[in-house]
Amino acid sequence: MIALENVHLAYTAGDRSVSVLSGASLEVTQGQSIAIIGPSGSGKTSLLLVLTGLETPDSGSVLFDGTPLHFLSNDARADLRRDRVGIVFQNFHLIPSLSARENVALPLDMAGQSNAREQARLLLERVGLGHRLDHYPNALSGGERQRVAIARALVHRPSLIVADEPTGNLDNQTGAAIADLLFELNDDNDATLVLVTHDPLLAARCQRQVRLHEGCLHPVGSQGVDQRSATDII
Ligand SMILES: Nc1ncnc2c1ncn2[C@@H]1O[C@H](COP(=O)(O)OP(=O)(O)O)[C@@H](O)[C@H]1O
Ligand SMILES: [Mg+2]
Repeated sequence: MIALENVHLAYTAGDRSVSVLSGASLEVTQGQSIAIIGPSGSGKTSLLLVLTGLETPDSGSVLFDGTPLHFLSNDARADLRRDRVGIVFQNFHLIPSLSARENVALPLDMAGQSNAREQARLLLERVGLGHRLDHYPNALSGGERQRVAIARALVHRPSLIVADEPTGNLDNQTGAAIADLLFELNDDNDATLVLVTHDPLLAARCQRQVRLHEGCLHPVGSQGVDQRSATDII
């Protein structure tokens, strides 16, 4: 469903170039859930940006249902994201001037759907925020914002859901509830779920785990190294 083939990415800051991805490859099938783990600064967020076409790799390919993203125009890539991809960003990226309901309705509004407000209300009720529909992001707690961000990413039933440390800033109980929600909504839609997480328990709930190390992705086995990598990343 989504594949990375030998992806390289470096950032240039001043006269220095920092290599972040150096031959990353990955293949994820439709409906699969996969966790990407690795220490802070290892390039996990960059990898998600490349995977969703928000960042263009220096070399290598990203294939979405077999189509290389670099074959598409910027507009076609944006359309693909709008129609098929839901992204939960690390810092939520909610629009401060829009209410919770308006933030969630936005992907449907952009796709020209007429019942956007009603669908946004239903999904916000489902994530336990039926009483916060008209609140603005700055009047919501971290956990509530995270739930709005998840609702917004899922409201248009994307076939690919990408979430960057979705439980990162939450206490354990809220984090577990958020994770339940993500897996539940993911199951309902038979979507592919790509999660970046520091949390070994969350990673263990995914069907597969891969570790980003020195710019490449390595499968995390079911024994031995597994335990070590889980503690290494904290
Ligand atoms: N836009 C950017 N310009 C320059 N360097 C960046 C940029 N984004 C990230 N980096 C650097 O790339 C490395 C990987 O960052 P990131 O993908 O955010 O890692 P992670 O999500 O695993 O913490 C870090 O060293 C970070 O400082
Ligand atoms: Mg990150």
